[in-house]
Amino acid sequence: MRRVRALYPALADGYAYLDGAAGTQVPQVVVDAIAGAYRRGIGNAGGAFPASGRSAAIVAECRGAVADLVGGDPDGVILGPNMTTLTYRLASALAAGWSAGDEVVVSRLDHDANVRPWLQVAARSGATVRWAEVDLATGELPVGQYDALLSPRTRLVAVTAASNVLGTRPDVAAIAARAHAVGALTYVDGVHAAAHGPVDAGALGADFFATSAYKWSGPHVGAVVADPGLLATLRPDKLASSPDQVPERFEQGTSPFADLAGVVAAVEHLASMDAAAGTRRERLLASMDAAEAHELALFEVLLDGLEAMAHVTTYGKAARRTATAYFTVAGLTPLEVAERLAARKVNVWNGHNYAWELTGALGIRDAGSAVRAGLVHYNDRSDVDRLLEGVAELER
Ligand SMILES: Cc1ncc(COP(=O)(O)O)c(C=O)c1O
Repeated sequence: MRRVRALYPALADGYAYLDGAAGTQVPQVVVDAIAGAYRRGIGNAGGAFPASGRSAAIVAECRGAVADLVGGDPDGVILGPNMTTLTYRLASALAAGWSAGDEVVVSRLDHDANVRPWLQVAARSGATVRWAEVDLATGELPVGQYDALLSPRTRLVAVTAASNVLGTRPDVAAIAARAHAVGALTYVDGVHAAAHGPVDAGALGADFFATSAYKWSGPHVGAVVADPGLLATLRPDKLASSPDQVPERFEQGTSPFADLAGVVAAVEHLASMDAAAGTRRERLLASMDAAEAHELALFEVLLDGLEAMAHVTTYGKAARRTATAYFTVAGLTPLEVAERLAARKVNVWNGHNYAWELTGALGIRDAGSAVRAGLVHYNDRSDVDRLLEGVAELER
């Protein structure tokens, strides 16, 4: 991955970028693709002239690229500003078919973007909300509890494919199988997961799989991937004059065409990180597999280092997790830790990171939650060493 790291111009600024879970840097090819789209000339889509045709082509390429990344159908790729906006849109569309007595299952592990929209639409439709709880000692989301949470009235199960703070990767396939057995749909938050390994939305049992390109080396664009046939059953609020076909029906206003060109470049980049041959989908699976192995090997060093320090408390020890550490330092607030590390040119996040319910359940939210240091494929041993040296110095 040393070769890959050099492809990111921003990484040359001397900082250790351990903030990837909040958003990654982008490789030069993404910068070039966005600039290139503007340079060549893009028009609004749907016109009779070539620049308009280029925008339409970019949109189609983008749907194909995201579908390849997550293992979906390009005709079921909804593009939008970010995961949160798209989730609110889909929650409204789905809840239009709910009534009093219907049930929705959310999890305490999830980022609030896969919790609050469901709570709010459930309240409006009279649906009951049921909570899947986290084992706070381990950070696991036990699958067994879903047997008691699900019923024939369950309409939707919202669950994350990976926690953005603890890194926990719940057994989504097992949860989805239980949800499908009672006729419920699944809405899987893949924002954190998709950046850290290969994704097969079908194998996960995700009826909806949400992702955000800015977490995996792309620009600020979100996507939700679903079966086009399922999308055709939903009627989101839309303008009378905008296209009614799927997936355009779910997309509001004019698309950021140049950014979508950047998303395509980001997917191509991810597909090329490993030397594997084959289709883009096959290369993506191999590359993301290699990325995960690289991250987890470094993470072992990072986590062992943090856990060996008496003044550090780490949170979460799930069996399957991403390379994401969440910790506190005795005698310092998370903000103070982040500030001290920033002074040493180490970028980490402090706070709840929108894992609102989880940090509340852990009892740390009011005290500033914790510090998150996450690895992505472009991080290397020097980033880890600098973090560990910086945290070691914080001992009182
Ligand atoms: C796990 C997870 N879900 C959802 C989101 C929200 O994504 P977006 O910023 O695209 O709305 C984030 C962003 O940090 C996240 O980490």
